[in-house]
Amino acid sequence: MDLFDLIKTRRSIRRFSQEKLDRNFLIELVEAARCAPATANLQPLEYIIVDEPKICEKLFEALSWAGHVRPKRNPLPNQRPVAYIVVLANSEIKSNAPVDAAAAIENILLAAWGKGVGSCWLGAIDRMKILQVLDIDEKYQVDSVVALGKPDEKPVMEDAKGDDTKYYLDEKDVLHVPKRAMAKILHFNKFGSK
Ligand SMILES: Cc1cc2nc3c(=O)[nH]c(=O)nc-3n(C[C@H](O)[C@H](O)[C@H](O)COP(=O)(O)O)c2cc1C
Repeated sequence: MDLFDLIKTRRSIRRFSQEKLDRNFLIELVEAARCAPATANLQPLEYIIVDEPKICEKLFEALSWAGHVRPKRNPLPNQRPVAYIVVLANSEIKSNAPVDAAAAIENILLAAWGKGVGSCWLGAIDRMKILQVLDIDEKYQVDSVVALGKPDEKPVMEDAKGDDTKYYLDEKDVLHVPKRAMAKILHFNKFGSK
């Protein structure tokens, strides 16, 4: 897929088929993250691939899903992610870890989608629980979790009507994701010039 199409068609996925993901593919996603820009190239980030079903189950308990439509987009037991990448920041490397993590995570989401794999970036997470479940050294902070699996839903993006950007479910249980219209966010040469 052309890169622009890839960017435009990527949506957060919260329902997954239970097809397993190859470990080497997951490693490739971390390689995509490693290639991302990093503040002063300091690189405080590390990654944990979680693909063992029992650990996936425990990690799932530390996540929360789609707040605007809760609980309707909580993945059902047979639609849960089949793997995760947990993004960690080493607090001993003084840098701008959340910004670096954002760049790295977007690389993961797009690299996954480029192979037809869906993802959801999760920031509303129980970080203390994740530290325990994954036995993470105390000098690391959990930035985010990326949930992964083949999509079992097809959310649609649309222009937001007015200022309402809350995603919503329609009568067919399709998730609609309003993005602020280009005319609302784009200026030319000086602010206010449309
Ligand atoms: C920093 C960040 C944290 C997020 N945390 C969550 C989360 O905890 N749970 C969730 O279901 N979605 C989460 N999302 C996904 C957003 O809800 C989603 O990106 C947004 O609704 C736009 O949809 P789209 O990704 O399909 O464009 C997060 C996204 C970002 C960028």
